Amino acid sequence: MCGIIGYTGSKPAQPFLIEGLKKLEYRGYDSAGIALYSPKDFQIFRAVGPVAELENQLSSSPSTATQGIAHTRWATHGGPSEINAHPHRSGELVLVHNGIIENHIALKEVLSKKGFQFVSQTDSEVLAAWIEHQRAQLSGSHWKNLPLAEKRQIAIQAIKQALEHIEGHYAFVAMFRDLEDHIFGAQMGAPMVIAPTEHGFFVASDLQATLQHSLKAFILPKNSIFWLDSKTSFWNPIHAPKSAPFRPSAYETLEWSAEKVEKDGYETFMLKEIFQQPIVVADSLSGRLPEAETQGFHWDHLKANEVLWKNVKRLYLIACGTSYHAALVAKYFFERWSRLDCHVDIASEFRYRSPVFEPGTVVGVISQSGETADTLAALRLANEAGCSTFSICNVPTSTIARESSFQYPTKAGPEIGVASTKAFTAQLTVLSALALDVARLRGVGQTEAFHALARLPHDLDRVLTHAEKYIQAGKSMAQSRLVLFIGRGPLYPLALEGALKLKELTYVPAEGFAAGELKHGPIAYIDDQVTTIVLAPQDDLYLKTVSNLQEVKARGGKIIAIGTEGDRELAGQCHDFFGLPQ
Ligand code: M6R
Repeated sequence: MCGIIGYTGSKPAQPFLIEGLKKLEYRGYDSAGIALYSPKDFQIFRAVGPVAELENQLSSSPSTATQGIAHTRWATHGGPSEINAHPHRSGELVLVHNGIIENHIALKEVLSKKGFQFVSQTDSEVLAAWIEHQRAQLSGSHWKNLPLAEKRQIAIQAIKQALEHIEGHYAFVAMFRDLEDHIFGAQMGAPMVIAPTEHGFFVASDLQATLQHSLKAFILPKNSIFWLDSKTSFWNPIHAPKSAPFRPSAYETLEWSAEKVEKDGYETFMLKEIFQQPIVVADSLSGRLPEAETQGFHWDHLKANEVLWKNVKRLYLIACGTSYHAALVAKYFFERWSRLDCHVDIASEFRYRSPVFEPGTVVGVISQSGETADTLAALRLANEAGCSTFSICNVPTSTIARESSFQYPTKAGPEIGVASTKAFTAQLTVLSALALDVARLRGVGQTEAFHALARLPHDLDRVLTHAEKYIQAGKSMAQSRLVLFIGRGPLYPLALEGALKLKELTYVPAEGFAAGELKHGPIAYIDDQVTTIVLAPQDDLYLKTVSNLQEVKARGGKIIAIGTEGDRELAGQCHDFFGLPQ
């Protein structure tokens, strides 16, 4: 994950670009860089570490340049270093890039034979050189003296030619020397948006970087090439004939506002997002609440697909990471409540298998961003096989949302924290509402579960009032050699999610297990340096989970239990206990 922002207009570009990079920092933060246009030559600055390092470097020499591109990087090809940081320069071209150039080694060999030299280990530098090579061939030695319109034509043609030979999913923006006011780029499977303002145009990999300047944006379609100057912006499908005129960008007005992407006084975005959960759940349920409470969910979105859901034979849910864990939880909902055969798969596995799509199969993909490459590929596979597909996405304009046959959107608002929190809760909310409505359609209404879901925003509010207590438990957990999370039923995927979150955020080794699996191996490494978080609500599997807790206790392990409020017996058996509403 990396972040891109560019600006061309009548105001100084540097402050806009730095501010944009800060908004994008959640996408990658091991290095950052900026290229500013000046008639003499580009001014390029790069720094290892957070955007603040780059900002420091620039603070002594603020630039008046009104055009520039910038990048924040999370290293994939080549380690985090100044040399590998973007922008990358090749001859007359400077470029920043997101995504992967799969055939960069072969291209590098060709270019090396032609005399190109490389300083970084990145595929991005190869991309820059490959485009520059086409440009040089098209313009010969006349580039500097050509009229501007002709230079623009050559730049577009060079990019088109170059992209014909490039394999991968990526996006980039680039500037050419002596081609003032112009930014070029392409969306080849990684998102890119163009946002107009009164003083110029922004281009970025993410709406988060442009929202504070404009509530309008053009989401570039996949496989498109574009250019912009301070007054206008145009695009075309990459395979449009050479003679086809470029199309003006078609802006849409966005639902999200800039305020929604601020921290609102919280120390981090993640903390803010954790505390937003009650409202996010309420928003994700809104419009899905029934007229008469006892009748279950009557969901407008579902009405249009009632016949499909009545006749569905098998449901596949596909996702990655946290979204995959939401799918795993939902399997229990669809099987238990809707009595529907439900299969869950990791997108990066599903897409490379040969899944069998029997008639009556519905495929649902779950993604916060709506841009995860493996999830998108799985969706396309299902679409090509002729399945009905739906998406549960948090970004309604995303590629996954647009390419699915129908959408059940989460309404979590922008999730800036890399570690997914409120989006996960919103996914579970939508999935449970959907499972309940499918249950109703299939004649197996679930009144109790429905009431619990309707109460959820209120219950979440109560849980979050105990934040201080959680902080204390976190501090004592930080000393653990290892943290295990165990649970049964729908709590098993939550154990996986707990472990993922802890690893991702604290680097404390953590594992999630189905509680019944503990004795089949993992129990061997439990001792007094290991903390086990036992998820043990008073459900039908409660006693079984408590007996697994005893196994941990017998090995001297430290136990934190999360159970039903008021469960004194459970509280008495562990070091720390957190009670939740049933
Ligand atoms: O945007 P997506 O939901 O498709 O992203 C999938 C995963 O990368 C994501 O859920 C990731 O595991 C979480 N951000 C981790 O907290």
